[in-house]
Amino acid sequence: MEILIRQERQEDFQLIRELVRKAFALAEHSDGDEHNLIERLRLSPEYIPELSLVAVSGDIVLGHIMFSKISIGQTGAIALAPLAVRPDFQRKCIGTSLVTAGHELARRMGYSCSVVLGNPLYYSKFGYEKASAYGIIAPFEVPDDYYMVYGLDNTDDIPQGNVKYSDAFGI
Ligand SMILES: CC(C)(COP(=O)(O)OP(=O)(O)OC[C@H]1O[C@@H](n2cnc3c(N)ncnc32)[C@H](O)[C@@H]1OP(=O)(O)O)[C@@H](O)C(=O)NCCC(=O)NCCS
Repeated sequence: MEILIRQERQEDFQLIRELVRKAFALAEHSDGDEHNLIERLRLSPEYIPELSLVAVSGDIVLGHIMFSKISIGQTGAIALAPLAVRPDFQRKCIGTSLVTAGHELARRMGYSCSVVLGNPLYYSKFGYEKASAYGIIAPFEVPDDYYMVYGLDNTDDIPQGNVKYSDAFGI
């Protein structure tokens, strides 16, 4: 099956909503609001259309990822959230392809780093490391290992400070 990663389009939005809702219904950690979060993010100044991607096979949406603008201290960066793959297509590397494609595009757009709140076993494969080791402070309580950063070019460019998310996150 040929899988293509491309920018999301308006005609995908309803399918993405359903996919994200279903994927997080079965997830280890979820607040049950991720499908609404993506819709709030699209309406926010922190939305990055070029980094809101779908994995598709023909007309079928198999996975979705979003990166949105954040600041770390006074410096701009991005946050990966959310990431979801259709439950019946998980563990086929679709998540990996979405993360990798997003990183490559973000790197070319000039972003220095991406932060994520997620399972370290999953995200460490992509090079994510504990954010606290870089002096990055989350605006919420989180187990230290689960808040991570990835330097898109190199780790020297990772800024330090408090992270500020889009108001879409309701933090
Ligand atoms: C997390 C998620 C996006 C992964 O997508 P995927 O396409 O299944 O991931 P991949 O096939 O690229 O997986 C690669 C690796 O992650 C591991 N993995 C995938 N899903 C996992 C899960 N739910 N728990 C633990 N490990 C998992 C696989 O074992 C695989 O490791 P391996 O290559 O060493 O075998 C998908 O499981 C999902 O949508 N989950 C529900 C939503 C969610 O939790 N999103 C993440 C929020 S931070």
